[in-house]
Amino acid sequence: AAGTVTIGIDDIELATSHHVVRLDDFAEANGTDPNKFRLGLGQDEFSFPAPDEDVVTMAAAAAAPIIQRSGTEGIRTMLFATESGIDQSKAAGMAVHSLLDLPSQMRVVEVKEACYSATAALQAAVGIVTRSPGQRVLVIASDVARYALDSPGEPTQGAGAVAMLVSADPKLLEIEPVSGLNSADVDDFWRPNDSTTAIVDGALSVTAYLDALTGAWTDLAAQGGPAMAQIDRVLYHQPFTKMAKKAQVHLAGLTGEDLDTEVVAGASGAGASGAGAVDAGTSDAGSTGPTAAHSATAADSATAGSADSSAATGPRDTGLATSTLYNRRLGNSYTASLYAGLCSLLDHDEDLAGKRIGLFSYGSGSVGEFFTARVVPGYEQHSRRRTVTDALDARVPLSIDAYRALHAAELSSAEDVTTPKVTAGPFRFAGIKGRARLYERA
Ligand code: HMG
Repeated sequence: AAGTVTIGIDDIELATSHHVVRLDDFAEANGTDPNKFRLGLGQDEFSFPAPDEDVVTMAAAAAAPIIQRSGTEGIRTMLFATESGIDQSKAAGMAVHSLLDLPSQMRVVEVKEACYSATAALQAAVGIVTRSPGQRVLVIASDVARYALDSPGEPTQGAGAVAMLVSADPKLLEIEPVSGLNSADVDDFWRPNDSTTAIVDGALSVTAYLDALTGAWTDLAAQGGPAMAQIDRVLYHQPFTKMAKKAQVHLAGLTGEDLDTEVVAGASGAGASGAGAVDAGTSDAGSTGPTAAHSATAADSATAGSADSSAATGPRDTGLATSTLYNRRLGNSYTASLYAGLCSLLDHDEDLAGKRIGLFSYGSGSVGEFFTARVVPGYEQHSRRRTVTDALDARVPLSIDAYRALHAAELSSAEDVTTPKVTAGPFRFAGIKGRARLYERA
């Protein structure tokens, strides 16, 4: 908050792709134990784009309902965060600007630093609104996570976009002014200009992530930020949900606090409410059954109640399970991942009013930022649970052969092409003409 003006996220939406790859199918095709993915990585599925989808179509799909609800007045800036951009020069946001018929009196910019850049965009947006409280900023994070076929990163692919409207007097989240920051030049993950897939040193990426968490948390304390005891929920960047668990264990070590370390084993993303589906009785996600949250319903609410009431004696519930429900099904959405976790928390935790959330953003290469925000009372009136769950359920599964063929298909800008109409989403990538990408309303 700046003086009496609070600034933060007024509206947020999540969109994903037309297709999904189920990790059980992937395991079967690869002769791998499916529990390696469900439990070892904490992932059930990953979203995969149709040939007529990309970061632009997902971004426009995420932003459209926000613009529909609140119009364009005062929106003079769009910041588009991505690391799977479609051009080396032109911002992907220009196509979104056109698809959504946004006013020409705007600045539209692309922001990059691996998965971290959405947080840079969000903080820049807060800065703009601090100076001009009458303005609103559209922040979009959109990515397609792609690793080489048959590489260890392959099951951690995914696709998704989150759009956020940043304004004064926000309806969802007030962002607090203190941040903990950490930058370190490290080659844990990157994508050279001539590669369509990321290069990654998996083991190094995990330690670089945790080192950045240490650095950002330490800086947060040095900057006078809140102690862990003053933070009610914690969200992490989720390249796979088990990584959030590793981060939580790490933060518990840094702070000396007894924190929840359970991610849900197998989530439908639907139904669970409150801190639902937390298996508080076990110490390792690897020992929970994969079917538990596939049937996350009223029964899980009852479990949540008992988990809450035993919180005084057990580890603190900081929302680890609740914030990983969507991401288990999306896969890694890079820049959008932390904010997909935010959507999941806001949509499944009914006890957030006035609570402080800690958010840890990580981007390989690397930057880490730990910042905090307060949930605005009434946030629950703006749930996305139905639309996000419907979108996840509506994805069309790909056979592993079909997925591999789509993964291998690469478009060259040198040839004019018209893409087949596949997506059921509101916007589509129509093809290439004269080396330029064309988009249209579906
Ligand atoms: P891997 O070699 O496939 O997996 O790589 P593993 O053999 O290390 O196994 C993974 C876990 O599954 C282990 O648990 C195993 O014990 C367990 P852990 O030791 O981690 O607790 N396991 C099983 N559990 C139950 N039943 C079984 C079973 N088998 C094994 N049968 C790796 C995993 C994550 C390295 C790989 O997927 C990868 O390279 N992914 C891409 C990189 C990545 O996601 N890194 C995360 C940190 S960096 C980051 O977050 C930034 C990023 O988003 C990019 C950006 O910033 O732009 C990636």
